Amino acid sequence: MNLNLTTKKIDVEIDIVLVKNKKIKENKEILKSLNFKGTDEESALLPELGKLYVGCETDDVDNIRIAIATAIKALNKTNFKSASIKCKDNLSAYIDGFELGNYTFDKYKSKTKEFKKEDKNIYIVVNSIDKNIQKEFEEAVSICESVNMARDFVNTTPDDFYPSIMAKEAIRIAKENELECKILDEDYLEKNNMGAMLAVGRASRHRSKLIHLTYKPTGKTKAKKKIVLVGKGLTYDSGGLSLKPSDFMVSMKSDKSGGCAVLGIMNTIADLNLPIEVHGIVGAVENMIGGDAYKPDDVLYAKNGKTIEIRNTDAEGRLVLADCLCYAQDEIDDIDYIFDFATLTGACVVGVGQYTSGIMGNNQKLNYKVVKNALDSGELATTLPFNRYLKKTLKSEIADICNISSTRYGGAITAGMFLDNFIKDENKQKWVHVDIAGPAFVESSWGYNPHGASGAGIRMAIEFIKSL
Ligand code: BES
Ligand code: ZN
Ligand code: ZN
Repeated sequence: MNLNLTTKKIDVEIDIVLVKNKKIKENKEILKSLNFKGTDEESALLPELGKLYVGCETDDVDNIRIAIATAIKALNKTNFKSASIKCKDNLSAYIDGFELGNYTFDKYKSKTKEFKKEDKNIYIVVNSIDKNIQKEFEEAVSICESVNMARDFVNTTPDDFYPSIMAKEAIRIAKENELECKILDEDYLEKNNMGAMLAVGRASRHRSKLIHLTYKPTGKTKAKKKIVLVGKGLTYDSGGLSLKPSDFMVSMKSDKSGGCAVLGIMNTIADLNLPIEVHGIVGAVENMIGGDAYKPDDVLYAKNGKTIEIRNTDAEGRLVLADCLCYAQDEIDDIDYIFDFATLTGACVVGVGQYTSGIMGNNQKLNYKVVKNALDSGELATTLPFNRYLKKTLKSEIADICNISSTRYGGAITAGMFLDNFIKDENKQKWVHVDIAGPAFVESSWGYNPHGASGAGIRMAIEFIKSL
């Protein structure tokens, strides 16, 4: 699909019409005979008239995204090669709908589809094109491309996407966007006392990697803020010796979603030309079983010197993040904001449903701001507040802290509070933990998201960064 922005009426095969608020204004009789009512995710194609009608029940921006995604999916079922749509406002929502709704993952399908999606030309017709509109168009396309790139990474199987592949992709992203790039290996982890992250990857045949990308504004623009993004990049989570039951292991290739979101954000940040320094740090690790696996009963030493009693090797993401968060705060000074993105807990999915991210941290005002940015960007999110009583459930008799809570309630929050142990005092109010375990990967399509990876975290983070 080629997306074009134009002011002229172009001669196309299909005119896409959004039917707002169920008010059908033209071709009423035919649409009635087709039983088209203009409800959400409903479409009707009138090929002889060159029209594609799609329902859009409210003026809500996310509704536009869903309606446009419905349109492109309907078009993809046909051989028509060109279509146009009028756009008065919310241009970026139209682009989101087309670009995100058009995504499919067919890397592992041996037969390719008869007609190619790539051949389609879509024209978004606007009243005028000034610098701002052009910028909105280009930025939205860039963000969507990064979301789709992250979706591809997450959907790729663990045999084809392991820590060194993730590092290779990071190097490519850095080259294409002129970012600084450091790939640190297990020798570095060992020399720098990152025993928690190191232990998780020990039984894997794939060596762990710590990825660190940096964007610094170029030319005359000086960075006004410094923001650090840390991602959980578990390229596979079998649970380790606390092995997951078979049904729960399926889809655990998605445990790298936080890391892939960070790579996606770094892939777009240079295009936005913001006066902000952005660091992207990913702990790329595979959690496996074997004679060399770390065990329940082990005590691990994290980079900040804290000792961690292991009682469940399936609570591995927090161990990787603990060391990555320490690394970030040791290597980068004067941080303004530090975020982590992770498919951290099943409890978060149970608590708020599979479409919503859990936003946590010590700064409730900042948490609310992130929720607002997420909703504005088209992602669902809600806050999950910390409290002093749950904090106590992480106490260990033999080490400084335990890697699981003593209660099975509030698992998303206790995981977040575990991470808080690795946030320095000066950064306590600057840190936000985003649990994307639900929306990162859903095994059925929802709105403009396909089956599988969604790219959760990217649009919300970019919205936040843009708002600074
Ligand atoms: N990667 C999982 C969390 C997860 C579950 C992500 C479902 C996406 C969908 C994480 O490493 C994990 O296994 N967490 C455990 C923690 C428990 C042992 C305290 C969980 O949620 O059960
Ligand atoms: Zn796990
Ligand atoms: Zn995990």
